[in-house]
Amino acid sequence: MAAAGAEGLKPVRVWDWPVRLIHWTLVLLIAFSWWSAENDHLGWHRLSGYTIIGLLTFRLYWGLAGSQTARFGAFVKGPGEVLTYARGLFGRRPADGVGHNALGGWSVLAMLTLLVAQVSLGLFAVDTDGLESGPFSAYVDFHTGRVAAHWHHVVFNLLLALIALHVAAIAFYAVVKRDNLVGPMLTGFRTLPASTPPVRFAPFWKLALGIVIAAGVAVVLSRGGRLL
Ligand code: HEM
Ligand code: HEM
Repeated sequence: MAAAGAEGLKPVRVWDWPVRLIHWTLVLLIAFSWWSAENDHLGWHRLSGYTIIGLLTFRLYWGLAGSQTARFGAFVKGPGEVLTYARGLFGRRPADGVGHNALGGWSVLAMLTLLVAQVSLGLFAVDTDGLESGPFSAYVDFHTGRVAAHWHHVVFNLLLALIALHVAAIAFYAVVKRDNLVGPMLTGFRTLPASTPPVRFAPFWKLALGIVIAAGVAVVLSRGGRLL
């Protein structure tokens, strides 16, 4: 819930369905990627990884060409704005704005960067006996494939730490700031002051183009870079 001004509140659509669908699918597939690697289902692990590559490609494209609240330009703020936001962090009053806040924007960027690193390393990774590997491991020697696997492991742990911080931040907003961020990530709507201008959402053709690009990138990378 946002702060109630004299003017009252209204539900505002802040997240489009691609952002929400990508978020919750990423949550499920990251858990599945971990489970499938731990239980030696590397075929499923790779499949899950290629789907994540598609989702990430779409999300990066959407960050440049998508709806207002999905755009990097809208939520990646300079140090001045981050500091001002951080100073007011412990106040009870929830933020009035739409989209990610100045601190959250950087954590989103950090999570997306680590995910890109994670899938890139996976493409080159080889297991100890060389039986299971990513589709790009054929282009590097065994030692390099093992180094990629080592960093694939390290980056996964960094990702886990960042996810823990992310979930703790969401809980902090719910408890200290009385601001439920999970509801809007599920429904798309947030209760905001009635004067909040509507969010601009991207047209269908941009969505369709993004799906084609994302599917193309995922398929080509799954084939070790080959088009046919
Ligand atoms: C694998 C675990 C997770 C990953 C990788 C992840 C990643 C992300 C990313 C990348 C965003 C930015 C969304 C966008 O702009 O596209 C985000 C936002 C968000 N996530 Fe997660 N997330 C994870 C788990 C969770 C969980 C378990 C919750 C619920 C408790 C959650 C709640 C949210 C909420 C509420 C936002 C919107 C924050 C805001 O209003 O600025 N996430 N997450
Ligand atoms: C976000 C996506 C991914 C996550 C979270 C993830 C996670 C993991 C984890 C936790 C392991 C076990 C590491 C260990 O304990 O040493 C692993 C192993 C592995 N992953 Fe991924 N992975 C992802 C994407 C990919 C992709 C896209 C590929 C390639 C197509 C890939 C290929 C591999 C391979 C070949 C191994 C075995 C390496 C070894 O046994 O040392 N992964 N992954």
